[in-house]
Amino acid sequence: MAIPQSFIQQLLQQCDIEDVIASYVTLRSEGSRKKALCPFHSEKTPSFIVYPNTQSFYCFGCGAGGDVITFIRRIENLDYVEAVKLLAQRAGMTVPEDAESDRAGKLKVRILEINREAARFFHQTLKTPDGQPGLRYLKGERKLSDHTIVKYGLGYARDSWDALYRHLRGKGYTVEELEAAKVISRGKNGHYYDFFRNRVIYPVIDLRGNVIAFGGRVLDDSKPKYLNTPDTPVFKKSRNLFSLNFAKNAVASKRLILAEGYMDVIAIHAAGFENVVATLGTALTSDQARLMKNYADEVIICYDSDGPGQAATHRAINLLSEVGLTAKTIRMEGAKDPDEFIKKFGAKRFELLLNGAGNAVEFELRKIREQVDLNDTNGKIEYIRRAVPLIADIQSRLEREVYAGIVSRETGVDAKSFLSQVDAAIRRKARKQEDGEWRDIYQAKDVRTDRVNPDRAKFLRASQAEATLIALAVRDPSVLTIIQSRLKPEDFPTAFNRRVYERVLWVTEQFGDCPPALLNEPFSEPEVDRISQILAAHAEDRMSDQLLNDCIAVLEEQRRSLRGKDTRTMSLEELEARRKQRQKQE
Ligand code: GTP
Ligand code: MN
Repeated sequence: MAIPQSFIQQLLQQCDIEDVIASYVTLRSEGSRKKALCPFHSEKTPSFIVYPNTQSFYCFGCGAGGDVITFIRRIENLDYVEAVKLLAQRAGMTVPEDAESDRAGKLKVRILEINREAARFFHQTLKTPDGQPGLRYLKGERKLSDHTIVKYGLGYARDSWDALYRHLRGKGYTVEELEAAKVISRGKNGHYYDFFRNRVIYPVIDLRGNVIAFGGRVLDDSKPKYLNTPDTPVFKKSRNLFSLNFAKNAVASKRLILAEGYMDVIAIHAAGFENVVATLGTALTSDQARLMKNYADEVIICYDSDGPGQAATHRAINLLSEVGLTAKTIRMEGAKDPDEFIKKFGAKRFELLLNGAGNAVEFELRKIREQVDLNDTNGKIEYIRRAVPLIADIQSRLEREVYAGIVSRETGVDAKSFLSQVDAAIRRKARKQEDGEWRDIYQAKDVRTDRVNPDRAKFLRASQAEATLIALAVRDPSVLTIIQSRLKPEDFPTAFNRRVYERVLWVTEQFGDCPPALLNEPFSEPEVDRISQILAAHAEDRMSDQLLNDCIAVLEEQRRSLRGKDTRTMSLEELEARRKQRQKQE
């Protein structure tokens, strides 16, 4: 374990979960608990609950839950140690380092040094005879200026198996370090070779100015066109954006441009629009959408005008709107991507495109229009049918009326009757959302596909009792003493709940009680969600001798039934088999 539990315990006393969460979302009181709109999924009615009593949270909408440390991990995208450090900083405490976390931290520092050195090496290569193919490509073919090449730190990985390997070994980095940085790979024969060879190199820089990864492009039409650094201890591609280090200083307008590729970003940036970013060789993720939300209110999507580009635009619109960003799109004609557009028509025309960017609704309406025949009655009906849900998604009544006017002109259908269809769709949606958000309260998702606790289907009633006992024990150590006097951990029939119970025992023994943050520590994220669900579901249970006795009795009964079975302790499969048997007999 990386950080001593005793320190975590001290930290938890300093960091009240309510204070911490209140600095991210607006909490409203509701009895002894607090409610908020969930920061981990998008919703309109709050289902995110904070429980000051147990210092935990749980969202009944998306199932995310945990303690103050898990909250920080999720919302700040940090690992456990980093989250503890951030909380410690907030509380003015210093984290005692042990050997292991020290080692992990040192490796990260080494990887960042390796990346910086590699970036320098790739860039310097452009000035050597070996680097001429790269320089010719960047300047001759892609028409980049020296200024841009220097600003982005572009480079070239020469056509050699081990130029970088030898260079970095000469600087004293070990093979293990180079492998961890993913700048070299190990071949089948055990030899090491450079990851990037004969490619132009685009370094990926984070917000603190660290070189965290590279993209490398071939100079011709060979495949794969791009190679990207795989995830390393300092780089997660789903959580970073190319050129955000520049873009973050150019968002006075609260507006970001999202392009598809490295080259598009560089071309758009060089044309004077520095508020541009791209994903790193993958489709946009919701982590990246949230990252953009930190800097902008509006995102103009400038993906390629081909089929895949338009499909990706559709997907991006959804992800961006989900985190509350206004998504807009441009319509490029006469060029396949922004790079080509700017080369052909210049920066001024590109600016006109940006300023004329249509919102997402226009993009989607146009897409439908291209698929139906508006001269035909069926085509018109189809168009209206698909336009209704789109327009129902718009928040402002005024805007909806504007679009209703457009659709009405295009189809000849009365705008009022179109709007009443939209209103009906809005009501349907609100109802559905509310149902969805609250459906799963107190009732876990489908037991048959329970990955966290696969034994649950086998022990329906007992797992319910286990969960109640765990929740009661976490809330009150004296209850644990009673449970302990009557049950052994082995009497918990499902493996997952047994592990949780054993952890409750251990933590309580060590510390006198069981704060959820210490309880959660050895569990994975989905497991922590489940533990939080258990605690949340039973947060309102009134502790009584009756309840406690009933639950213990269920587990005692379960223990006895290992000899003889009755229906109450049968598994789903057994119940089903029995039902089938009966049906046959009838
Ligand atoms: P150019 O062809 O140089 O103009 O590249 P581009 O940056 O415009 O790229 P393109 O539109 O072909 O692709 C968009 C982005 O997808 C690229 O910037 C890469 O991040 C990624 N990409 C393209 N091809 C590959 C590939 O073969 N492998 C991987 N991993 N990513 C790719
Ligand atoms: Mn391109």
